[in-house]
Amino acid sequence: MTGSDSNNNTPIPNLWDKEYALGRSESDLLIYRSNLLGSDKRVTNYGGGNTSAKIMSKDPISGEPVEVLWVKGSGGDIGSIKSDGFSTLYLDKLSQLKTLYRGEEFEDEMVGYLPHCTFNLNNRAASIDTPLHAYIPYKHVDHLHPDAVIAIAASTQSKAMTEEIFDGEIGWLPWRRPGFILGLELEKIVTENPHLKGVVLESHGLFTWADTSEACYRLSLTIINKAQRWLDNKLEGTACFGGNKHTSLPTERRLEIASELMPIIRGKTSAHQQQIGHFNDCPEVLAFVNSAQLFTLSFLGTSCPDHFLRTKIRPLVLEFNPDSPDLEQLISQLDARLETYRADYAAYYERCKNENSPAMRDANPIVYLIPGVGMLTFAKDKATARIAGEFYVNAINVMRGASAVGDYVGLPEQEAFNIEYWLLEEAKLQRMPKPKSLAGKVALITGGAGGIGLATAEKLLSEGACVLLADIDQESLDQSVAKLGDVYSLDQIDGFKMDVTSEQDVIDAFAFVSHRFGGVDIVISNAGIASSSALDETTIDTWHFNQSILSTGYFLVSREGFKKLKTQNTGGSFVFIASKNGLVPSINASAYCAAKAAEIQLARCVAIEGAQWGIRANVVNPDAVLKGSKIWTGKWKEERATAYNLSEDSLEEHYRLRSMLKLNVLPEDIAEGIYFFVSDKSGKSTGNILNVDAGHAPSFTR
Ligand code: NAI
Repeated sequence: MTGSDSNNNTPIPNLWDKEYALGRSESDLLIYRSNLLGSDKRVTNYGGGNTSAKIMSKDPISGEPVEVLWVKGSGGDIGSIKSDGFSTLYLDKLSQLKTLYRGEEFEDEMVGYLPHCTFNLNNRAASIDTPLHAYIPYKHVDHLHPDAVIAIAASTQSKAMTEEIFDGEIGWLPWRRPGFILGLELEKIVTENPHLKGVVLESHGLFTWADTSEACYRLSLTIINKAQRWLDNKLEGTACFGGNKHTSLPTERRLEIASELMPIIRGKTSAHQQQIGHFNDCPEVLAFVNSAQLFTLSFLGTSCPDHFLRTKIRPLVLEFNPDSPDLEQLISQLDARLETYRADYAAYYERCKNENSPAMRDANPIVYLIPGVGMLTFAKDKATARIAGEFYVNAINVMRGASAVGDYVGLPEQEAFNIEYWLLEEAKLQRMPKPKSLAGKVALITGGAGGIGLATAEKLLSEGACVLLADIDQESLDQSVAKLGDVYSLDQIDGFKMDVTSEQDVIDAFAFVSHRFGGVDIVISNAGIASSSALDETTIDTWHFNQSILSTGYFLVSREGFKKLKTQNTGGSFVFIASKNGLVPSINASAYCAAKAAEIQLARCVAIEGAQWGIRANVVNPDAVLKGSKIWTGKWKEERATAYNLSEDSLEEHYRLRSMLKLNVLPEDIAEGIYFFVSDKSGKSTGNILNVDAGHAPSFTR
């Protein structure tokens, strides 16, 4: 669940540290200011808005001083921007572009000229907002998307309200898609009205300017806080969104519903591209989904162009009455609701497209709203799904403010389309790197905090999957998640404490992965222990212990995983990490060997029953993986050394020399085998065994 601080009523604090700023260069101060502004979502949404400074620099060829525009480049977020996130352009060349401008019809060609204005061979692509900053005749310019200001900008009385709230110090411009002409309009309004400190752009956001970075930062905060105070006064005592129609279900029930629903939705909407889901039931979302105006307001669509680029113009509201909840009915209506949504989207595309519009993109919804439960968002990866949810929270805040002070207006449909299918946006999409081989996939790894589990997690994460480590050992889990988090985004990783021998734990783990990522595609059954004793000395407890984890535990994980994969109905892949001991027994390990043999047979059962659903099941048999393995730090190592009459230190060499290839087997080698079985490369293999043991002739499968 992700909350948002965007409904926090405390004023946004001024965090400018004069001591820190003292003596810093203009470019450093621009970065500092940008990071401060972007650190609060009330100031601007993720990736939204941009900042700039006009800085005197030495021309690398003439050595003469020239004025250079530093402006946030295409992509990125001002909250974390560093110097390489800014484009740098000769200001005089940007001015000369005005002579080339052929009018509104030729807006897009102006973007092609921007690289010609580049200063110092900077390869950061200039954004389409560059002219908006270039032509405002002030050194420092902020362009932000604060919910409080957009609430005003998206109201029918936006112009009059802007005048009233800011006592004429802030100008107003009607809606226009960002681009060259908007830059010229900004220049005009600023030059003709020298008293202005900023401008509200209808249905879009805020521009402010000043002579220093600090003054610009201070001014932006002052304006946003002023707008928020004004809205708060108006909102005081009024029922938001026409008052409550429903009450929220208890948290646990909300999560249960999300867990049940998300894999089903994911299955029904992943034909075009495998989706990852995100669940959000923060207070703002619940207030909106429970409100009387849920249907009417959400139908109007979002307003700020950034918002609906991330969320589509409108969400899918699912009919559900939390006061007499009937989840079965909701599920039974899903196909019809999705069909209608997709048809409406296709009709919108047909109505608005022009001859050179890019082809229609995925017509499925991104945002789903459910009364009493919350919001689900789906996208190609976890971060995009989470951010889409955060954008919709911004949109909710905007609608709350705008509808309380006037009538909320979404963007006109054609304008929305022109942004969504803008060729320049399409070019940005085309420039994105090719998705990795497991992008959009979710893996659950039992024993994920152990040697082989962790190496497998790393491999799958590196190929773009989301990974849930499920393990009985909480401390190792925390360490493993933190270790992976140093390299990969925590959006993609989570840990869950689970004992594979507990039916309830296993059910809970699959429920968790379902609401955390939207479902599951890959199940790696890997949790393990080992024990060694002569047959006549093997206690019933040792026997049960091995059976409970390696046999029963693998059964429970298979059964719950199988249910989820069937519900999702998009295929899937099981990999069982058994052992060469499942094929060829070792001396003094009957309980372990027998349980490992059970695993292998169970994997084949999953393969037979799963084939009709496109579910594959395969086995990887490691052998003697000492590095990183907790099994090999305990009694097992000592017992194996005793069984072979060797010292513990010589075991690794013993296994290396025993192997046909004379190589040690590492956790990463096992991870490669697992990756092969979960990737499309083995898409036509099921019921197979891959030994990763550096060659052990008795284990050859037949
Ligand atoms: P490991 O001990 O490093 O990892 C196993 C993980 O399973 C540990 O994190 C442990 O906490 C977890 N686990 C134990 N009982 C659990 C339970 N009841 N519920 C949930 N999690 C539990 O061992 P390693 O080497 O990574 O082994 C992984 C798998 O590979 C095991 O199934 C093992 O039998 C198998 N294997 C390993 C070989 C090796 O030489 N390391 C050789 C052949 C098979």
